Amino acid sequence: MADTTSNDAFVEFDRVQKSYDGENLVVKDLNLSMPKGEFLTMLGPSGSGKTTCLMMLAGFETATHGDIRLDGKSINDIPPHKRGIGMVFQNYALFPHMTVAENLSFPLEVRKIGKSDREDKIKTALDRVQMGSFAGRRPAQLSGGQQQRIALARALVFEPELVLMDEPLGALDKQLRETLQFEITNLAHELGITVVYVTHDQTEALTMSDRVAVFDDGRIQQLAPPDKLYEEPENSFVAQFIGENNTLEGVVKEIKGGYAVVELDGGALIDAKPINVSKAGERTRVSIRPERVEYNKERLSPDAHTLKAEVLEFIYMGDIFRTRLRVAGKDDFVIKTRNAPDQVRLKPGQQIDIGWLPDDCRALDA
Ligand SMILES: Nc1ncnc2c1ncn2[C@@H]1O[C@H](COP(=O)(O)OP(=O)(O)OP(=O)(O)O)[C@@H](O)[C@H]1O
Ligand SMILES: [Mg+2]
Repeated sequence: MADTTSNDAFVEFDRVQKSYDGENLVVKDLNLSMPKGEFLTMLGPSGSGKTTCLMMLAGFETATHGDIRLDGKSINDIPPHKRGIGMVFQNYALFPHMTVAENLSFPLEVRKIGKSDREDKIKTALDRVQMGSFAGRRPAQLSGGQQQRIALARALVFEPELVLMDEPLGALDKQLRETLQFEITNLAHELGITVVYVTHDQTEALTMSDRVAVFDDGRIQQLAPPDKLYEEPENSFVAQFIGENNTLEGVVKEIKGGYAVVELDGGALIDAKPINVSKAGERTRVSIRPERVEYNKERLSPDAHTLKAEVLEFIYMGDIFRTRLRVAGKDDFVIKTRNAPDQVRLKPGQQIDIGWLPDDCRALDA
């Protein structure tokens, strides 16, 4: 079998496919290689196959095709108690009839760890999540955030090398989520654990991860560090899914000097960087971030193409201004500007010219 991965891979999906009904593939040709200690997030819309991938990695589901390896060994050949995988799931509830300490003791007993060792490990794990004084409580006597901390402690208590988390913070309010996001990444890095994390919250994915795998339709659409994913989306799906984005459609008029001139459907010309287009005549969807749009002509190169725009709405957001424009016949073009002392506040009805650096505008698949 061709080796598509490097030798120091700790977790590997090698051409993995999964079908539940023998007909439809919910995971299609998945290749993924993670080094030890990496925090990788699977991000994607509902039904895109994220949980299925975690379940296969945990050994609860088997791949229909392909191989999943942990530290070089096929997961199928490792008995469950030797897999050393900790798990935290949104609905992977704590055992309600057991105390916190008993919940944590369980995975240790399964692994035949002696009583005094167990007590030490439980104490360490609870202290790590700042729940040292809750050992005697039952889950029903804890808040949602505290329960999730205990679930995390239970996943870490037997010192797994790999931890899988499926939307562990999904049920919590925003502030608690943010606190726990920070705690989880800190703990993972401190302990050197490899983490596969699943979420459909893109901010969570971007802020927590070393790399993010964007899933859609059973495939990884792009796998990259957060900044690269945001700044260099490789296709229209990723550009739309990650962050706010303006999209304009048209046809490539020419490609010259590494840049494309795109004729929008309304006839206007713009400059873009060709990503998924290679020649004149191809249809494309161009993608430009709101904060990269410029309306101060002095900051644009003199030969840059510009577009006429009408200001529809100005929203003061404190740190930034968010202005909605009508551009090339569309009413949803958004620009964002920093609230600096000299920043102009645009007014509805105002006519402006907008432009950008061609490097900031990506000509993607139509
Ligand atoms: N046990 C199962 N039997 C049959 N089909 C299943 C099973 N589990 C999942 N599926 C189907 O497989 C596809 C992928 O589901 P999966 O749970 O992996 O998606 P997901 O990306 O985790 O979605 P969500 O964000 O909603 O949790 C879906 O179409 C789902 O209906
Ligand atoms: Mg899921």
